[in-house]
This record gives sequence, structure tokens and C-alpha cells, in this order.
Amino acid sequence: MKEIIDVQLKTRKAEVVDCKSDLLVLGHFSDTKGLDRACKDLDKRLDGAVSRLIELGDFTGKEGTSAVLYGNDSVGAKRILFVGLGEKKKSTLDTIRKAAARAASKAVSIKAKRMGLVFHRVWAGRFELSLVARVMAEGVFLGSYRYDEFVTESEDGRCEQVVAEFVETDSGKLQKIKKGMAIGKVIGGAHSYARTIANRPGNVINPPSLAAEAKKMARGLKNVTCTVFDDKQLVAKKMGGILAVGSGSVSKPRLIILKYSGGGKAAKCPTIGLVGKAITFDSGGISIKPAAKMEEMKLDKSGGIAVLATIKAIAELGLDVNVLGIIPAAENLPSSTSYRPGDIVTTYSGKTVEVQNTDAEGRMVLCDGLCYADKQNCDVIIDVATLTGACKVALGKYMAGLMSNDDKLVKQLQAAAKASGEKVWHLPSGDEYADEMKSKIADLKNIGSRWGGACTAAAFLRQFVGDRKWAHLDIAGVEMFETASEFSAEGSSGFGVRLLVSYLMEMCK
Ligand code: BES
Ligand code: MN
Ligand code: ZN
Repeated sequence: MKEIIDVQLKTRKAEVVDCKSDLLVLGHFSDTKGLDRACKDLDKRLDGAVSRLIELGDFTGKEGTSAVLYGNDSVGAKRILFVGLGEKKKSTLDTIRKAAARAASKAVSIKAKRMGLVFHRVWAGRFELSLVARVMAEGVFLGSYRYDEFVTESEDGRCEQVVAEFVETDSGKLQKIKKGMAIGKVIGGAHSYARTIANRPGNVINPPSLAAEAKKMARGLKNVTCTVFDDKQLVAKKMGGILAVGSGSVSKPRLIILKYSGGGKAAKCPTIGLVGKAITFDSGGISIKPAAKMEEMKLDKSGGIAVLATIKAIAELGLDVNVLGIIPAAENLPSSTSYRPGDIVTTYSGKTVEVQNTDAEGRMVLCDGLCYADKQNCDVIIDVATLTGACKVALGKYMAGLMSNDDKLVKQLQAAAKASGEKVWHLPSGDEYADEMKSKIADLKNIGSRWGGACTAAAFLRQFVGDRKWAHLDIAGVEMFETASEFSAEGSSGFGVRLLVSYLMEMCK
């Protein structure tokens, strides 16, 4: 198994025209007339090629478009890539992130190892420079990512490394760029890490191997401890939900607990519990799923992995926060030892659940994780889960569902979504939905009616957090890119890492 593409980020004090690179990247808005200074300098040395490109109308600067020019002996770059940024007033931080991602993706596909980025300049005055550099760095990770750990034969070779250099002449600006780049490097690195672990298939990542990975990760981090409850400890603690879901597989379930204790102000700050669903493969169990696209259910561990990678990022950033990461991990398979429809399960909370469908397994493991967070006195509990196909039907592939019992927490997560580019949409989870989850023969049942499945699932979870402030992110639909796009490869999207890190960065301010 080989390492995924290595990403290096650097700053470079140089004039744009002279800067040596395999690919020099410039940004262009669709509504700005004329060329900026860097473009004018390049235009002169390329005998007017830049102005011809614009005048001919081949490249308008529309978002999502790009054009390539080739260098000559008087410029340092072998190729010059113009990325369209759309209308200036409409541009957001995510415009910058995606533009960097498109450039990095292009660099990987043409095997241009050394990339020079200069388009931070065009946002001067609109966004703070270090923030621009941060999201550019995140974009470089997003766009250069490819999952090819298990590819041993590839026809046209492989790009082993991308070196992205942020080019600037002003020393003061370089300092700000460095600061933002360092943060973006941590977030982008954690994001790619999440994608790799999530993309690994079910025969590689199972509950014990995921627990081993979490321990390995924690060993390399400061102020992080990792505790794993194995199946015997789960029995002793009476975590009936996790045990029921895991009962059909020879790979026994685990509860992975990661504790990050920040310094500084953290002592006085609330403890945030992050609970992530990690079903390492979801076949549906006895209520088995149809065969088509079942392989995608290796990504049913994405919520748990988002929590894992978030801990990595906040520890590397050294944020002044306290976070308890709780990852219930199980494999949902049919066998003679599986839990079955009709079973009544006593969960960790003591509440009993009538199982009407073994494919509604996420809530069965999460309820134990949420109750554990409550018992550990987490002040705020946020869970992340690929929970319902219904959420994917409702919101499609662009936004995660957000349910909560606390309006302030909703606002904070909406703000984090804006900062991170990982979008959320607020959905209900109140009493009407909870009523649907009542059972005649137990306290709860694990499915509701045909309608509003994302909301009834959330209403189920809500009953396991006591009076704690709680939010639920249903990431079914956004955990995966179905196809490759101009800014990202297909497979795991790593959704949730940037969102949660952005939320926690605001928490410790
Ligand atoms: N992991 C699935 C949800 C899912 C579906 C994630 C599609 C990503 C893409 C979950 O465990 C599940 O199977 N949910 C059922 C619930 C139903 C039985 C109430 C579903 O959505 O069909
Ligand atoms: Mn399922
Ligand atoms: Zn599932």
C-alpha cells in the first residue's frame, strides 16, 4: 500500500514574472476590466499573449473555468493557469478555496510538481490576508487529493508530490500569509487524512483496526489520550445498542474515546462532546440492503472519522478547548448471531428499543455514544453521522442536515458552515417526530413512519442527551463525491472536519 500524494506548502519572496514554477496560477474575475500589475508584466514578457487571451473572449473569468498559457525564456513559469473567480462582489472564502483546489487538481493531473500561487492579491481589502492564505492552503489539499493507496498498476505514472508556493514580494504580507498557511496546512492535512481512512474498504477498516488507527494517531499528538472499550468492556458497561449492531460480525464492536485537553483558557471553557457514527460497513444486517451501490456503505464510518480527524487538527493547532471524541464502531452484517427485527435491546441509558429494522443501526450505536457523552458531563454534544437516506433525498449532495435543541448552537454551527464552506441546513426534530418513535412493547422503536425519516431519526437521538445542548449533523449525501469534479477527486469528501474545526476555533476565542 503506498502513501497518498504528498503536499508541501511554502512561501516565496519573488516577482511573479520571475518566479520559477511548473505551473503559475493567477485568478481573474469576470467583471474586472483590464489586467492587474502582475498580469501586465507577464503580458509584456509574453508578447501580449495574456491580453489576446482576454480579448479573444476564450477566457472570461467565469467561475469554474480556466485557461492555460505557456511560458517562454523571459518568464520563470513553464505554464500559466488562469482560474476564473466569477463576479468579484459575489466571491466568498469558498470561491478562493475552490479556485486553489482547481489549480491543485490541474497540477496533479498534468504532473506539474511545483506550483506558484499568486491569486491571494486580488482579494486585498475584502478578506483578511491570513484568512485568504488559510483557505488557499485548504484548497490545495482538497484539489490535489487522490485515493490510490491500492493502485499498483497505473498507465501514465503518478504525481508523487505537489509543492505549492505562495508568491509575494512584500515581507509584511508574507508574514500574514505564513500564519494563515500554517493553519490551513493543519486543517487541510486532517481533511485529507479523514478522506484516506474513510476511503479504505471494509476488509481493511473494521472496528478493531479503526481503534488501532485512533491509538496510533493519538500517540503522535500532544494532549490527546485514546481509550478503547472492547466488546467485553461494552458488555460490562451494558452498552446494548453498540453490541446489538456489532453482533453479526466476527469483527467485534469498539467504543473509541479520544480526549483532548487544551491549555490556556480551556480550563474555564465548556467540554464539547463530539460523537461520530462509525459503521465500518453497513450491509443493512438482516434487513439487508439491495446490492446496487452497497459498496458505498464502506463510507458509513465517515461521521466517526470526521471526529477522529477533527481531534487531530485541534491538537495540532493547540486550540484552547476541551473536546471528548466518542466513536462507536461496529460492522452491520447479517449472520446467525446478528440482531434481528423484533429484538428488544436495552441501551446504555437503560431505555429499551424495539428493533423494527436492522438497517436503522446508526441510531442504535449513537444512542450509547450520546448517553456516554452525557454521563461524562459534556456541556455541549454534537453528533455527526451518515444517518438517513431520507436526509439525502431532502437536501441532496450539497448540504448536511442540522437538527438541534438549542438555537444558539444552531447559529454557531451555521457560522462555522459559512467559514468552512461545508454547508448545513436546519431541520426540525421536535415532539411530533419523537411521538412517531414510541413503541408499544418498549420505550422506543428504531424507525418512524414513511415520512420525514431524517427528522424522526434525529428525534430518536435527542432522547439520549438529557438536558445537554445538542446538535446532530446528518451527513448522508455529503460524505461522498459521486464523481470527480474540477476541484476534487471522487470518493470520501471528508465532510465535517473543516466544519467542526471552524466551530471549535470560534469557541476558544
Ligand atoms: N447508512 C445508512 C444511511 C445512508 C443512506 C447513508 C444513503 C448514506 C447514503 C443508514 O444506516 C440507513 O440504512 N438508514 C436507513 C434508515 C431506515 C431503515 C429507517 C435508510 O435511510 O434507509
Ligand atoms: Mn443502515
Ligand atoms: Zn448506516
